[in-house]
Amino acid sequence: MYIIQVASECAPVSKAGGLGDVVYGLSRELEIQGHCIELILPKYDNMRYDHIWGLHDAYINLWVPWYGAAIHCSVYCGWVHGRVCFFIEPHSQDNFFNRGCYYGCDDDNIRFAFFCKAALEFILQSNKRPDVIHCHDWQTGLLPVMLFEVYKYHGMENQRICYTIHNFKHQGMGGSEILWATGLNREGYYFQDDRLKDNFNPFALNFMKGGIVYANAITTVSPHHSWEARFTPIGCGLGHTLHLHQDKFTGILNGINDDFWNPEQDRYIPYHYAPDSFEDKAKNKKALREQLWLQDVDKPIVAFIGRLDDQKGVHLVHHAIYYSLHKGAQFVLLGSATAAAINSWFWHEKYYLNDNPDVHLELGFNEELSHLIYAGADFILVPSNYEPCGLTQIIGLKYGTVPIVRSVGGLVNTVFDRDHHPNHPMEKRNGYVFNHTDYYALESTMDRALGLWYDYPEEFQKLAIQGMAYDYSWSASASKYVKIYDMIRHQ
Ligand code: ADP
Ligand code: GLC
Repeated sequence: MYIIQVASECAPVSKAGGLGDVVYGLSRELEIQGHCIELILPKYDNMRYDHIWGLHDAYINLWVPWYGAAIHCSVYCGWVHGRVCFFIEPHSQDNFFNRGCYYGCDDDNIRFAFFCKAALEFILQSNKRPDVIHCHDWQTGLLPVMLFEVYKYHGMENQRICYTIHNFKHQGMGGSEILWATGLNREGYYFQDDRLKDNFNPFALNFMKGGIVYANAITTVSPHHSWEARFTPIGCGLGHTLHLHQDKFTGILNGINDDFWNPEQDRYIPYHYAPDSFEDKAKNKKALREQLWLQDVDKPIVAFIGRLDDQKGVHLVHHAIYYSLHKGAQFVLLGSATAAAINSWFWHEKYYLNDNPDVHLELGFNEELSHLIYAGADFILVPSNYEPCGLTQIIGLKYGTVPIVRSVGGLVNTVFDRDHHPNHPMEKRNGYVFNHTDYYALESTMDRALGLWYDYPEEFQKLAIQGMAYDYSWSASASKYVKIYDMIRHQ
């Protein structure tokens, strides 16, 4: 099959979080399984260009209709670790993708509405006719709308769309200007409950809702989250829309790219290890301490890696730092955040804990350091308020770093509590799980986890190695996507 992935991120060139990992990892596995894959991405100025090979301008005159006129774009082509990627660069005064960031601009909705339009124009004008276009998250929600309302009548009647939702909290909203900009125009038609009208705000168009209504298949990134999205407030107002379209909605668990995330060959860690050489993990722990100026003493390391967003349960992360110290453990945090989130507590803590030899708080996005933390820490903490899938616990498992997680979303499908799990025998358990979002739930779970490390080191090692045995590679999940592509292609 010929599949084009359209997304706002792709690891490691433009990655803000798990979306980038998934777009790259799924594409790689689909190619391994024999399919022809191309990716269409924005050409951001702040991408990791050191991970793109052979970048050249492939299509220099792409004119994209916009507000009744047209914006001139160039499309660049390059290989990102073997995958063919097309990067769209608009030459307009708005500099949509030359902002030094991926997201966080006031006009994000316009930027990505433009990206959808440009991606479709590129497919049309360059005569690409994929079997399936796979779109990801709110940034591409308008693409299915435009395909089936406009482009279908310009020679793209055979294309089908699979739309994957990674995060219901960010849905992409706009007013009628979006319709005039993209040429969809007809206000009365789109401001309808069964089309794009937002379920809460009657004056807003909802991009993600558009994706749900128009795509041929919709997925989210874990089976448990597909249930939560329909039946709990985690669907952020789209539960009813999903109900109406539930025949085409399913949850497929994310995998990880085991070429990139693999302690046996990871290029960013100094000592490689496997389950049968688990003792070498300790050398990475030492290297991590050296790099972060932590004292080298016999203590467990608890780590958190992620966006410092409400989603991630930052109040519990905050509490866990102090509780780890109280229990004689060390804590490493690698967090990315907007300025507002940082101001709320991070600098205060950094100042306060700066001289503490058992804590390191690292602000910013640092791919290389994240690998060393996965390899060097004993525990990875994921106390999320909600978590559609979550990759840090899966990567942690692969590195023998025991996850301590809240039982929500994809965490439910991937982590099984060592002390009690009704459906998993002892030898299949791989971490620690708690239910509630209060400090007590966190503390009692950390007590159990750290207790095992202190009092039963052999049992702890056994648990970590059991986690490494889980196969969360992409092979099974990519095959599920292929089944969906195949099904919609014949509709
Ligand atoms: P989300 O997509 O909600 O941010 P996931 O758990 O799905 O969360 O994926 C997060 C991905 O981003 C993982 O690969 C993780 O290692 C990486 N990551 C998150 N924050 C950082 C950071 N500050 N520096 C480096 N990598 C990070
Ligand atoms: C989102 C979710 C995260 C998921 C990732 C990749 O950003 O927050 O849970 O793992 O997308 O699908």
